[in-house]
Amino acid sequence: MNQKFLVIGAFGQIGSELVPTLQKYFGKENVVAVGHSHIPKNFDGIVEKGSVLEPKTIAKLIDKYKTNILINLASFLSVKSENDPEGAFQTNLLGLKNTLDIAKEKNLKVFWPSSIAVFGPTTPKNQTPQETIIEPTTMYGVTKRAGELLCQYYFLKWGVDVRSIRYPGLLDYKTPPSAGTTEYAKYIFYEGIKNNSYDCPLKEDTMLPMMYMEDAVEATIQIITAQKEKINVRTSYNLAAFSFSPKMIAEELKKYLPKFKINYKIDPQIQKIADSWPNSIDDSKAKEDWGWQPKFSFEKTIEIMFKNIKEKIQ
Ligand code: SER
Repeated sequence: MNQKFLVIGAFGQIGSELVPTLQKYFGKENVVAVGHSHIPKNFDGIVEKGSVLEPKTIAKLIDKYKTNILINLASFLSVKSENDPEGAFQTNLLGLKNTLDIAKEKNLKVFWPSSIAVFGPTTPKNQTPQETIIEPTTMYGVTKRAGELLCQYYFLKWGVDVRSIRYPGLLDYKTPPSAGTTEYAKYIFYEGIKNNSYDCPLKEDTMLPMMYMEDAVEATIQIITAQKEKINVRTSYNLAAFSFSPKMIAEELKKYLPKFKINYKIDPQIQKIADSWPNSIDDSKAKEDWGWQPKFSFEKTIEIMFKNIKEKIQ
């Protein structure tokens, strides 16, 4: 069957890179980009306005373009969710429910992003397994974990073919850094290139799982296009590439900015969130089930990020 995608949240952090890659692989005519705010004026492809909180609009767009795959990327990140728990609940969880209901009614395949934020302080921190104690203590984590269970419920009860990944912190140079815990690892480039220094909100030894965006996008397309029989996890798959701490990224950045200096100005709210998340992730299930393999190392990712952000802001 022809694969035709409708992507909600198309102009956010993941969408900004996933949408052009989908267009490249499947053709511009097969990708409908739906944005709520920040719709770029020069977007090259099919674009519509809509939100996960307006399910009637989304349903109409699906009928209009006859799409059969619904990708819902609309989400508040962790720090924004802590500052606006009600908004996070609405967009992250009710928004997901709206899209699952549409998928159930119209028999669509669904992709929805979860996060390492589903894990909490009671989870084993190193090489966190796929199945483990999952008791998130942030609003972001609560919405993501509840969302995972909702996805699984729609699969078990109504056979909705829903697929999901628990992304680690994602490093991209296309979108500006925003209100997430792992976003310090994007801010550090912008501040470092401008000022040769960065005030880091996390302690120097805070290890967090991270990944280059191109790997995340490839994984997303891989799981969406995998044969149905290969998808054995209907909550969400662990995914990993590498982990680093602020001290480690600062050392790596010094290869490109010898005068770079990192200062530690701990933000207790962000530190608390980071402390509740894993240091590293065991993603063997994704590797076994649908052949996931990351391509970009920590060093390569830093090299690409530095080069491109430098070109962008200078
Ligand atoms: N990158 C996200 C955040 O920091 C986690 O999924 O909020």
